[in-house]
Formats: sequence, C-alpha cells, structure tokens
Amino acid sequence: MFKVEPLVKYSEKYMICIDQAKQRLKIHNAPIKQKAPDISKYEVIYIGAPIYWGKMPEELSTAPQSLNFEGKIVKPFVTHEGSGISQVPQQLQELCIGAKILDGLEIFGFKVNCSKSDVKNWV
Ligand SMILES: Cc1cc2nc3c(=O)[nH]c(=O)nc-3n(C[C@H](O)[C@H](O)[C@H](O)COP(=O)(O)O)c2cc1C
Repeated sequence: MFKVEPLVKYSEKYMICIDQAKQRLKIHNAPIKQKAPDISKYEVIYIGAPIYWGKMPEELSTAPQSLNFEGKIVKPFVTHEGSGISQVPQQLQELCIGAKILDGLEIFGFKVNCSKSDVKNWV
C-alpha cells in the first residue's frame, strides 16, 4: 500500500483546508512527499481518495503521473459527503493512460466505520 502524502499538509481546521484545496486546484501537480512506487507487478490498482471540490485532491493527480498504467485495471474508491464519486472516473481516465477504470465505491465519510461489508463486497 502506498499513501500519497502532500508535501504541504492540509490544515486540520476545516475552513482553512477548504481554502487550501481550492488554491491547489489551480496549481496542478501539487507536490507530494514521495514518488509512487513501481506498479509493474500488479494487475489491479486501487486508488482511494476523499472528494475535495468534486475531484480527488490535487496530490492524488500528481502521484499516478510517474507510473505506467498500460494494461492495468484501476478500481477507485472515495469518501464524500454528498456528491458521490463525482469527477474521479474522468480524472483517472486522463491520468492512468492505458488502464481500464472500473466502477468505483463511494462511501459517506460519516459512515466509514460501518462500511466494512460494503468494502468487502466491492473488492
Ligand atoms: C476541501 C474539502 C472539499 C470537499 N469537497 C467535497 C465535495 O465536493 N463533495 C463532497 O461530497 N464532499 C466534499 N468534502 C467532504 C469530504 O469528501 C469528506 O470530508 C471526506 O471524504 C471524509 O474524509 P476525511 O475524514 O478524511 O475528511 C470536502 C471536504 C474538504 C475538506
């Protein structure tokens, strides 16, 4: 498992975080702490993210760019508070060149702790 960590942390204060995420939408390629590892030995790649402004946070767009997705299957999963998976499938289609993007799993953030069976069924 690889965790994409922003080089500059998001604030734990909700309103500041909202603003930071909005700013980062404009910059693209938001820097991450570590480059994503080689995925050549995997057939299926799961990519999970919270929905920020209808998309994956910008750092989640940075991470796949150094990887070769040719022939891979990508399964997205998101947490959200109402807008569902939003633009994530389109984002991944553009980022993961050559991959087949399967239907994603969307979980309400407040239901995360009681979603184990939904996750099991989807995986
Ligand atoms: C900056 C920001 C933008 C968000 N934008 C959306 C959104 O567009 N649609 C939505 O349903 N939820 C949105 N949310 C709610 C998050 O998706 C939700 O808090 C998250 O999935 C739960 O994960 P967490 O516990 O890590 O915050 C947003 C939250 C933040 C902080």
